Amino acid sequence: MAAPFPHHLFVTLSIILSVLACSIVMSHAQLSPNFYAKTCPNLQAIVLSAMKQAVTKEPRMGASILRLFFHDCFVNGCDGSILLDDTSTFTGEKSAGPNQNSARGFDVIDSIKSNVEAACNATVSCADILALAARDGVVQLGGPSWTVGLGRRDARTASQSAANNQIPSPFSDLSTLTSRFAAKGLNARDLTALSGAHTIGQAQCQFFRNRVYNETNIDANFATSRKANCPSAGGNANLSPLETLTPARFDNNYYRDLVAKRGLLHSDQVLFNGGTQDGLVRSYSANSVSFFSDFAAAMVKMGNISPLTGTSGEIRKNCRVVN
Ligand code: HEM
Repeated sequence: MAAPFPHHLFVTLSIILSVLACSIVMSHAQLSPNFYAKTCPNLQAIVLSAMKQAVTKEPRMGASILRLFFHDCFVNGCDGSILLDDTSTFTGEKSAGPNQNSARGFDVIDSIKSNVEAACNATVSCADILALAARDGVVQLGGPSWTVGLGRRDARTASQSAANNQIPSPFSDLSTLTSRFAAKGLNARDLTALSGAHTIGQAQCQFFRNRVYNETNIDANFATSRKANCPSAGGNANLSPLETLTPARFDNNYYRDLVAKRGLLHSDQVLFNGGTQDGLVRSYSANSVSFFSDFAAAMVKMGNISPLTGTSGEIRKNCRVVN
């Protein structure tokens, strides 16, 4: 007859199993809001004060930095890759289609980084600075706040082709948007909540021309008013606010626009066009509390997309170049 299983072996085995289970869970939740508590205690105050200044000077900057974070996270994770400059031997993401002559706010990130370096040299990643700055910009414009997990490290590479292929286009339909977000672990609810970022900021005529001239699910007065600053030929870079009522305020008016067929981009209006997201759009349009809480939760999720942690990547000294 086999000897009874010794108690101490059982205890040892359960400890090993629970450590294993913990490390599996941890691999999905490696970021911590306290990551720099000892090494850079003033980090959050430094970022906040710089973002207050930047947004006071130009409210649109809150929008531009939020978009930078989205474009960073969607290309190989939130790793600061979008911040790298092209050089004669390096082609990065800044010159990818969705970013060139469009992504902005790099100077603000540079200036925050130099303030952070002055306080805690070679300690805080550019990827984490961008994550904090995006949150602070939203808050400055009246939006929700959330706790930013920290501990991301900076990429030593960038991928122009991934930027071209993985960031969704404004001409996308709902099924394409849904699958682009699903590829990043974000569901349709996250898509609809995160698209609410278009309650702030501006878009160029070339991205909404076809919508205002050729689409039929559009409010006629809205189309006319947008055409005034977006000729059928030329004026590609002319700007229009993405949201009509309060474009410098982070609120739920984006969803009111969608319900009134005043979405500026094709990819905005597909969220309210007889499809699966209509109900959620209507509910956000009526209830900014539920929009704010879903937006904040989805931003945390987006900020967790495949970060480099531990000894992967590096802490860049200058956000524009690898060390
Ligand atoms: C759902 C798919 C999305 C598409 C197709 C899309 C597309 C675009 C386009 C074409 C612009 C205008 C760019 C220009 O004219 O130069 C824009 C602006 C913007 N996007 Fe998105 N976007 C999407 C999702 C998001 C998400 C998830 C966020 C952030 C959470 C975001 C934040 C912004 C902001 C804040 C602006 C204004 C930027 C500024 O004024 O500088 N977008 N987006």
